[in-house]
Amino acid sequence: MRSTRWKAASRAAIALAGAGALAAGMALFVTAPASAGTTLGASAAEKGRYFGTAVAGFKLSDSAYTTILNREFNSVTAENEMKMNATEPQQNQFSYGAADQIVNHARSRGMSVRGHTLAWHSQQPGWMESMSGSALRQAMLNHVTQVATHFRGRVVAWDVVNEAFADGSSGGRRDSNLQRTGNDWIEAAFRAARAADPGAKLCYNDYNTDNWTHAKTQGVYNMVRDFKARGVPIDCVGFQSHFNNDSPYVSNYRTTLSSFAALGVDVQITELDIQGASANTYRSVVEDCLAVARCNGITVWGIRDSDSWRASQTPLLFNNNGSKKPAYDAVLAALNNGTTPTDPPTDPPTDPPTDPPTDPPTTPPPGRGGSTATVSTNQWPGGFVATVRVTAGPPALGCSPVSTPPPTGPSATKPWSHTLARTALPAT
Ligand code: XIL
Repeated sequence: MRSTRWKAASRAAIALAGAGALAAGMALFVTAPASAGTTLGASAAEKGRYFGTAVAGFKLSDSAYTTILNREFNSVTAENEMKMNATEPQQNQFSYGAADQIVNHARSRGMSVRGHTLAWHSQQPGWMESMSGSALRQAMLNHVTQVATHFRGRVVAWDVVNEAFADGSSGGRRDSNLQRTGNDWIEAAFRAARAADPGAKLCYNDYNTDNWTHAKTQGVYNMVRDFKARGVPIDCVGFQSHFNNDSPYVSNYRTTLSSFAALGVDVQITELDIQGASANTYRSVVEDCLAVARCNGITVWGIRDSDSWRASQTPLLFNNNGSKKPAYDAVLAALNNGTTPTDPPTDPPTDPPTDPPTDPPTTPPPGRGGSTATVSTNQWPGGFVATVRVTAGPPALGCSPVSTPPPTGPSATKPWSHTLARTALPAT
């Protein structure tokens, strides 16, 4: 309990420091890393989750794109480069260059990788599209085995099978060449994936499975329940969550996530985009994920609106020039508020630090108005104290002092030699 509340304390203080808005010469006891609460990835990580994006390999040479990618996200999904047509363009000739580029970019920066996807009726190579029967079944299993083996140890979760259920009221499987090889093709794919990469989480991934009352949702649910009952190796369910006017977000989404989780699988939001990018809807999605312990993380399907496969719907968190949209602010705030208690801590830790400070002070860039802040930490088993020293610069243009204390709720504790006042910043 204490550590959670102390984390909350740190976030408030760091956020204020980041805004360059505290009185001069103050010091605070707070906890948590300096980057907490300032980017999607760091904020999600504080909640034990990841925040990812789909990445198109050819955009990695676009510095505006990679600047946002590297700053904000800590998980990556290849938008197209791991699909069957990309990785096995000719039968038994595998091509991993584009996918490896994305994987290397991500992993060298500490981002995890979701694999998407091993078996799908769509984006098959031409040679596979024209196959059927046992030859196709064997080719599919070989593909799963080869690709999962190639990326073994580098992909944390695979969408083993994508979009195998039908839309509409049937609740049954979608017709496809793979489905026509026999109803057991999905479990066969999962078994092959497990054998090839025992360390990866194996997910079933689909769209229009967000509404708990829909037949398709129930069809997938029944399959997962059956798989768990029979020991078919499945670890997670991916919800693409492409929300639009025809398939909107619904308030029973949280029920859907928690119901699947109750089957004993993780749930992940794998391809989130929302037509019009309503801040409220984005916020609701984040809150729903945070409310379900087994919701591991959220991936948005692209960075800027112009990167979206549905660009005209402007469904993402950054606009075409890379600026944060209101939906971004809503997502970040939801990640930061999350399950953090709103009551401030009442007592500082009583157990004395046993270790000398281990982290050197870090100096974030000056905030607006020229403020600077340094953070140093003193850690011991079970907790730590961070000291934040903020020196205010000249007031930012258009600012006026605010005499009220910082917002209520999570706040710094044990402040000394300062005044808890802040300076308002002009709206950006
Ligand atoms: C989309 C990509 O974003 C496009 O670039 C591509 O042309 C088609 O596929 N469901 C999925 C994703 O599982 O792989 C799809 O990605 C979007 C719908």
